[in-house]
Amino acid sequence: MSDNIQRVTVLSKTTWTPNLFSFTVTRPESFKFTAGQFVRLGVNPSKLKYYQNKSDEVADKALDEDIFRAYSIVSSPFDEVLEFFSIVIEDGAFTSQLQHLQVGDELLLNTMPFGFLTLARYQKPLPKDLWLLATGTGLAPFLSMLQDLQTWEDYEHIVLAYSARSKDELAYIETIERLQEDFGTLVDNPAKLIFVPIVTREKIEGALSERLPQLLLNGKLQQQAGIALDIDSAHVMLCGNPEMVEDTKETLKSMGMVMNRRGEGNIAVENYW
Ligand SMILES: Cc1cc2nc3c(=O)[nH]c(=O)nc-3n(C[C@H](O)[C@H](O)[C@H](O)COP(=O)(O)OP(=O)(O)OC[C@H]3O[C@@H](n4cnc5c(N)ncnc54)[C@H](O)[C@@H]3O)c2cc1C
Ligand SMILES: NC(=O)c1ccc[n+]([C@@H]2O[C@H](COP(=O)([O-])OP(=O)(O)OC[C@H]3O[C@@H](n4cnc5c(N)ncnc54)[C@H](OP(=O)(O)O)[C@@H]3O)[C@@H](O)[C@H]2O)c1
Repeated sequence: MSDNIQRVTVLSKTTWTPNLFSFTVTRPESFKFTAGQFVRLGVNPSKLKYYQNKSDEVADKALDEDIFRAYSIVSSPFDEVLEFFSIVIEDGAFTSQLQHLQVGDELLLNTMPFGFLTLARYQKPLPKDLWLLATGTGLAPFLSMLQDLQTWEDYEHIVLAYSARSKDELAYIETIERLQEDFGTLVDNPAKLIFVPIVTREKIEGALSERLPQLLLNGKLQQQAGIALDIDSAHVMLCGNPEMVEDTKETLKSMGMVMNRRGEGNIAVENYW
């Protein structure tokens, strides 16, 4: 096993829907990361408890090989445990196995953190507002950033727009509400984090229903947030579905925004596949 790879133990698991779950694992003491970064997680299906409790015939079919995938860290850099938010892809090599995780199972963690979807990439002076636009599990890095007090101190408004197909796939709603309350109180501004839920395949009261690029172009996202979005006032981060990232990036560019390079510019992105 490479020097960077450590064994971690599953401490808890939360199932949101048949296709979405979260879990926490032990955090190796030496492992440091910045909010917004991702790691590579590994699973060896044959070592999962799920298979150990199956008949020999089923258990023998479980692959005895380490499979790794990139995962954004949900928890804050200050937490004692590491949290992750995962999709389940029925025929996906990794998640078709990971979905069977149970408390006490072991995973592999490559302790080299990666990624530039971090607020440190933006040079000062910072604009007033931070816009965090996510689809699906692309919410993960933003939850980590929102648990870092520095994020709350650096911007006047933080808009979190989170798009899912259906209402039940909008995970972490209570966490977001708690962050609004707890960090809002700490910075003496309960209205600082503006949450805009988007549900695209159901009509839900209180949620927008179009895709992010359309919502930017027709102004409904800015209207719902209650603030303007322009080149001088905002940093915009995009994370999740690569088609959303591409379409939204182009839309933002048509509004005059530019990609962040060497610390300057508005837009920073992370594609999940
Ligand atoms: C930088 C980075 C960070 C990532 N962070 C996360 C994360 O925090 N949580 C997470 O669930 N995944 C994340 N992913 C995706 C993850 O690495 C795997 O692709 C995912 O776990 C599926 O693995 P798989 O082997 O089951 O399917 P794969 O063979 O990897 O993917 C099969 C197909 O499933 C779809 N797909 C893959 N991932 C997702 C997803 N997250 N949401 C919706 N559809 C998807 C795509 O259509 C993809 O082509 C991240 C990817 C990258 C590059
Ligand atoms: N979600 C499910 O019910 C479900 C069920 C079984 C399997 N899966 C698997 O999970 C994967 C999808 O997971 P997911 O629902 O989390 O991800 P997703 O398809 O990326 O959808 C998440 C959100 O992103 C939006 N979106 C997609 N493309 C966009 C674009 N170009 N611009 C703006 N917004 C865009 C979606 O809107 P739209 O609704 O308009 O696309 C939805 O609101 C699929 O590969 C599928 O195999 C999902």
